[in-house]
Amino acid sequence: MRIIEAANYKEMSVKAAQLVIEKVRSSDCMTLGLATGGTPKGLYEELILDHRMNGTSYQCVTTFNLDEYIGLSKDDPNSYYQYMYTNFFSHIDIPLKNTHIPSGQAVDVQAECKRYDSQVKDSGGIDLQILGIGENGHIGFNEPGTSFSSGTHLVELTSSTREANARYFSSFDEVPRQAITMGISGIMKSKEILLLVSGVSKQDAMKKLFEGQVTEKFPASILNEHGNVTVIADTDALKLVKPSR
Ligand code: GLP
Repeated sequence: MRIIEAANYKEMSVKAAQLVIEKVRSSDCMTLGLATGGTPKGLYEELILDHRMNGTSYQCVTTFNLDEYIGLSKDDPNSYYQYMYTNFFSHIDIPLKNTHIPSGQAVDVQAECKRYDSQVKDSGGIDLQILGIGENGHIGFNEPGTSFSSGTHLVELTSSTREANARYFSSFDEVPRQAITMGISGIMKSKEILLLVSGVSKQDAMKKLFEGQVTEKFPASILNEHGNVTVIADTDALKLVKPSR
C-alpha cells in the first residue's frame, strides 16, 4: 500500500482529486467505484470545481456506488442515491444512465445483489474504487466478520455503524438497520483502490490497518493483499501509526 500523508482534510481531498482527475483525463472511458459518507465529500467538491474550471468531462465515465440503505427511496434525503446526486452527479456532465447504485427498495434483494454484480462485470470491472473506512474497519458496509469472498449482499448494520451515521438522521431510530453492499471480493476485484481517511476517530482503524493482521474481524485489512492501493490519510488519522510506515 502506498501511503500519502496530508496535513488536513482539505489537503487529503485535493490530493485525492488530483489522482482521480488524472485517471479520468487519461482514459477514453473508465469505470469509477464511488463511496459515500463524510470523508469523500471534499473530494467530490474538488472534482466539481475542476469540472467547472478545467472542463474535465465525465461523459464517458461509468460509476458504481458501494452501497445503499434498505428501505429508503431514491427521493429520501438520507438515501445514498440522493447523496450522490446532490454532492456530485448533478454538478458534472455525467449521463445519469451511467451511474449505478444498488436499489434499497428492491422487492427481491437477492436478485438485486446478483444483478448488481453482473452489471459491474459487464461494464468491464472497476478501474478505480474510492473507499472510506468505518471506525470498526468496515469498507462499504462490510461489517466485521464479513467473509472475504463475499459478493454484493444484504447486511445487518452494527449499532456502532448506525450510531456513527445517526448524525445524518433526525434520530438514531430512523437509521436503517439493513443495507445492500458490494462485497469484499467485489471491492478487491477493482484494478486500483484509493482509500481516504481523515480525523482522530479513525486513528485506531489506521493502526490496525497498517500494523495488524489480515483478518475478517477487521474488513479493511484485506487491502494489504491488493497490489494497487493508495491510502491518502491526514495527520490526525495517522497519529498512532509508527513513523516507519
Ligand atoms: C459509511 C459508508 C462507508 C463509509 C463509512 C465511513 O457507513 N457505508 O462507505 O466509508 O461509513 O463514513 P465517514 O466517511 O462518514 O466516516
